[in-house]
Amino acid sequence: MSAYPALRLRRPRIAAWSRALHAETLLTPADLIWPLFVTAGDAEERIGSLPGVLRWSITQIVERAREARSLGIPAIALFPNTPEHLRTDDGAEAFNPGNLMCSAIRAIKDAVPEIGVLTDVALDPYTSHGHDGLTDDTGYVLNDATAEVLARQAVAQADAGADIVAPSDMMDGRVGLIRMALEQGGHPNVQIMAYAAKYASGFYGPFRDAVGSRGRLKGDKKTYQMDPANAEEALREVAADLDEGADSVMVKPGLPYLDIVRRVKERFEVPVFAYQVSGEYAMIEAAAAAGAGDRDTLVLETLMAFKRAGCSGVLSYHAPLAARLLGA
Ligand code: PBG
Repeated sequence: MSAYPALRLRRPRIAAWSRALHAETLLTPADLIWPLFVTAGDAEERIGSLPGVLRWSITQIVERAREARSLGIPAIALFPNTPEHLRTDDGAEAFNPGNLMCSAIRAIKDAVPEIGVLTDVALDPYTSHGHDGLTDDTGYVLNDATAEVLARQAVAQADAGADIVAPSDMMDGRVGLIRMALEQGGHPNVQIMAYAAKYASGFYGPFRDAVGSRGRLKGDKKTYQMDPANAEEALREVAADLDEGADSVMVKPGLPYLDIVRRVKERFEVPVFAYQVSGEYAMIEAAAAAGAGDRDTLVLETLMAFKRAGCSGVLSYHAPLAARLLGA
C-alpha cells in the first residue's frame, strides 16, 4: 500500500523549533528605518490621525536616535513640521542651512554619530501651497526649476551631516542633478535612496497632518506621482533613477504595491526599500483598536511580507515596536 498523502507539507510545521529551522525569510531590527517628525517647539506634539506617533523637539529627537541605536535599528528618516511663517510659495526655507531639518541632523550626528540619517528631499513641508515643488500661475508643478531647488536642498542636508538623501518629489531628472551637486559639494559618499516608484496615494493623509501640509494642499499630486494603475511605468522610473546615480530605490506605499517591489527586485537586482506609509500604520492601529486584529501580529506579519517580497529594508512607524518584539 502506498503512503497517503504522498506529500506531508505540514510535517515541518509541527513545532516552533522546526518552523524556525525552515523559515525562508528573516526579519531583524536591522531591516528597519524609523521615520521621525521634528517640531520647532520644545515639547512633543500629538498627531490626531497618527495615534502613538509624535512630533519631537530637537532635544527629544536626539533621544529617539539613541533609542533606535539601542534597539538595533540602523537608520532614522527625518521630516520637519516647518513653522507657519517660514512657509512660502517658493519653499526657500528648504535649503536654509539653519532650518529645522538641518539643525536636527546636526544635533543627532553630534550625539549619536553611529546612527544612519536619511532625509526627505521635497518642498512640501516648506511651501505655502503644500506641493512638492515650485508651481506656475496655474498651480502646475514645474519640473526643471524644482529639480534645481531640490539639489540645493540635498546639499544643505548633506552639509549638515545627512548620510542618505531621499528625493520623494517625483520630478524627472532630479536624481542626476542631486548626484552632480553632491559630487561638486564635496559629498561623494552621501547616498541617494530614490523614491523611484511613488504613487499618488490615498494613504498619505496622516503624514500630511504630521508635516502640516494637508490643509494647504491645493488639488492633488497626480501630475507628478504615479497612477496606481501602472507597473511598467514603475520599472521605467526605477531604470531612470538608477541610471542617474541612485544607490537604492524605494517603492511607496508599501503593502498594496508588493508586486512592484518584486518586479523591481527581479528586473534590476539592486537594493529595494519600501515605505509602509502613514495611512497603512493608521489602518493597523484602527484594526487593533477595533478588536479586528492583534497589533503585534499584524506588525510583524506585514513587515515580514516586505522582506519576502524582496525588500532590503522597510520604513515603518512601527519600527521601535517591531524591534522590541523581535527581541532587541
Ligand atoms: C512628501 C512625502 C510624503 C510622504 C513622504 N514624503 C507625502 C506626499 O507625497 O504627499 C508620505 C509618507 C507617509 O504617508 O507616511 N514629499
